[in-house]
Amino acid sequence: MNKEYWDKYYKEKHTDILKPSPFAVFCKSWLADNPIEDAFIVDIGCGNGRDMYYLGAIGYDQSSSAGNYKKISDVNLEHFDVVYARFVIHALTEEEEKQIYDQSSGYLMIETRSDKGVRPDETHERRLTNSDELIKKLEDNNFKIIYFVEGWGLAPHKDEDPVCVRVIAKKQL
Ligand SMILES: C[S@@+](CC[C@H](N)C(=O)[O-])C[C@H]1O[C@@H](n2cnc3c(N)ncnc32)[C@H](O)[C@@H]1O
Repeated sequence: MNKEYWDKYYKEKHTDILKPSPFAVFCKSWLADNPIEDAFIVDIGCGNGRDMYYLGAIGYDQSSSAGNYKKISDVNLEHFDVVYARFVIHALTEEEEKQIYDQSSGYLMIETRSDKGVRPDETHERRLTNSDELIKKLEDNNFKIIYFVEGWGLAPHKDEDPVCVRVIAKKQL
């Protein structure tokens, strides 16, 4: 969704998103504690690639001014050990979101904006995540929830501190 918004956004200089996100730092440390040998990671909706580089992942983004130019619907996620999706689930259509749960065959690492504590001055369309619905979707798709948290302080950015949901889940094959 919002391709034009993201094309314009990544054409501008955003020095505030040069470092990896706190979620990427969290995930890298989690992966180190739960070693998955030579994990093949895909960063879906990788934006400028900051987390992709940090995690040593392959990344795709719909925006031609961001990372590897590809829409999620053009990527096959089946062969990755880890599907990493930060601040992306709320930016997808329902169909694209479903593709992630259908195709992921290993670990899924998600950070997304929650529908709780929303500010009215939104700049672009988002399908904010209801955490109960997300957990249900994952469980219905055979995922085991390994880690879950929802709250403030997870992704502060400039003067914003949105309520976020973090999930690590593993597909039970
Ligand atoms: C909020 S940004 C997050 C970027 C990056 N994950 C980060 O945390 O810095 C959302 C990204 O999702 C991308 N996106 C939205 N819909 C997409 C789709 N259908 N396929 C691929 N990327 C998509 C946008 O272009 C944008 O770069």
